[in-house]
Amino acid sequence: MYTADGKRYEEMRYRRCGKSGLLLPEISLGLWHNFGSADSFDNMQGMVHTAFDLGITHFDLANNYGPVYGAAEENFGRIMERDMRPYRDEMIISTKAGYDMWPGPYGNFGSRKYLTASIDQSLSRMKLGYVDIFYHHRPDYETPLEETAEALSDIVRSGKALYVGISNYDSERTRRIAEILRENRTPLLINQVRYSMLDRHIERERIPETCRDVGAGVICFSPLAQGVLSDRYLDGIPSDSRAAKNRFLRGDSITPELISKVKALGELAGARGQTLAAMALSWVLRREEITSVLIGASRPEQIRANLAATKGAPFSEEELSKIEEILKK
Ligand SMILES: NC(=O)c1ccc[n+]([C@@H]2O[C@H](COP(=O)([O-])OP(=O)(O)OC[C@H]3O[C@@H](n4cnc5c(N)ncnc54)[C@H](OP(=O)(O)O)[C@@H]3O)[C@@H](O)[C@H]2O)c1
Repeated sequence: MYTADGKRYEEMRYRRCGKSGLLLPEISLGLWHNFGSADSFDNMQGMVHTAFDLGITHFDLANNYGPVYGAAEENFGRIMERDMRPYRDEMIISTKAGYDMWPGPYGNFGSRKYLTASIDQSLSRMKLGYVDIFYHHRPDYETPLEETAEALSDIVRSGKALYVGISNYDSERTRRIAEILRENRTPLLINQVRYSMLDRHIERERIPETCRDVGAGVICFSPLAQGVLSDRYLDGIPSDSRAAKNRFLRGDSITPELISKVKALGELAGARGQTLAAMALSWVLRREEITSVLIGASRPEQIRANLAATKGAPFSEEELSKIEEILKK
């Protein structure tokens, strides 16, 4: 039987999510990979326990995380039932709908029909009465934004979610939906977007600034570029790595040029007294608009190692310029 570490709140720092009352841990755990139907349940359970013991209170899911679709929510539900139930009030659990989930015209995108059915399915798989954050997973350019926003607001009013999130929304749509949600009196809590030293699109699109302006937080996914920003691929592609096992990170995208940048970044991290993975997370967290970095993991040790990100020294201007120089080469 699991009993949480009594010192779990001693190291993690928590940041306010936009202008809301909610604090999120600087590091959150996502269940996109390694929580599928063919993965080891003991390992999943170990990762959830390790995270929680380290003060990681936020667990991020989506209806279709698996494979198979729904499996991550089901496995997480089993962990909740087995030993996390006593800690439910210390946990922030999120899920999403917006991508392909079930056959036919009602299992995808952003209609009221899809979102309303999906939250019920997610709650039943996770064996929860409510989620803390319910996200629209991606913008839908065909459905009126008002319909998506109304559905999200109604889900909050029904008590099935406490807060509304959006994911992968650009600045303009973030502003528009934030306004509708404010009128509905269910304010936008957060935008979940991809951001790492290797993916800078949110800087170009000024998404952190937009979120700050509308009073929302930002949580950044794939901060390690799915593991590339670590020592994982320095000597080729290990057979147990995401690049070897999963179509979302293609082995041929890890080129010798990329690895030479990763090595140079690793040296800089070493000079700061950090691993590259920890520095990559600290680098995302250097911006005050960012509420949390959303990591993935394939084993508990990676979560423990990544906690070091919360202990990195602030970046000097010289270090930040050096990072840009390395990336530009
Ligand atoms: N909203 C969206 O559209 C969206 C999209 C993608 C992700 N997300 C969310 O963001 C979460 C995180 O995404 P991500 O998994 O791509 O994040 P990530 O942290 O960039 O990548 C995680 C992977 O990096 C490797 N890794 C982690 N720590 C390591 C360490 N210390 N040393 C070496 N390798 C390490 C592991 O790969 P190996 O498996 O190779 O060990 C791990 O599975 C997801 O679970 C999901 O909740 C959301």
